[in-house]
Amino acid sequence: MSDLRTPQAGDDRAPDTDVVSLLMRQHGDIRNLFDEVEATKGDERRDAFRRLVRLLAVHETAEEEVVHPFARRGLPGGRQVVEDRLAEEKAAKESLAALDGLDTDDPTFMPRLLKLRADVQAHARAEERYEFAHIRRSTDITELASMAKAVKAAEAMAPTRPRPGVESAAANMALGPVAALMDRTKDAVRKAMGKDG
Ligand SMILES: [Fe+2]
Ligand SMILES: [Fe+2]
Repeated sequence: MSDLRTPQAGDDRAPDTDVVSLLMRQHGDIRNLFDEVEATKGDERRDAFRRLVRLLAVHETAEEEVVHPFARRGLPGGRQVVEDRLAEEKAAKESLAALDGLDTDDPTFMPRLLKLRADVQAHARAEERYEFAHIRRSTDITELASMAKAVKAAEAMAPTRPRPGVESAAANMALGPVAALMDRTKDAVRKAMGKDG
């Protein structure tokens, strides 16, 4: 399993100046990390799961701060579309927090992970269909780029691969629980958007 290689943010070398491409790439990174957790065991699984938790927490928080408010204001029927996505995100974050307290070798871990995966993927498809496609059509490149910058600031907090030369479990631990990571992500996003008061 050690040759498993999770494609990392930016591997496709596409410039991250379009928030929709960036978020769709993160949806791909999230899928790959679910694959990696499923395909590994023991410490490798624990490490892959930490990276998944972080990317999911950071991704959903960035969407809630940057993209959903924009969609709510700007898209026809945006209010309902965003309400539906927020309800899905809330449920996913709750299952994520519950899973995060569980050992990855616990017999109940994998069935719960697979349920979370199905929910997260249905949520991502709904975003792509009802939100992202409309944002791209109705938004100019300057706005797409400024939203991308804020999402990139969040992404810096969630490397998809273990950092070389760093004991990644310890490094991940230092970042603390999911709720604290979400708070720090919000701060980073608001700062990037010039809204840090
Ligand atoms: Fe989302
Ligand atoms: Fe998403």
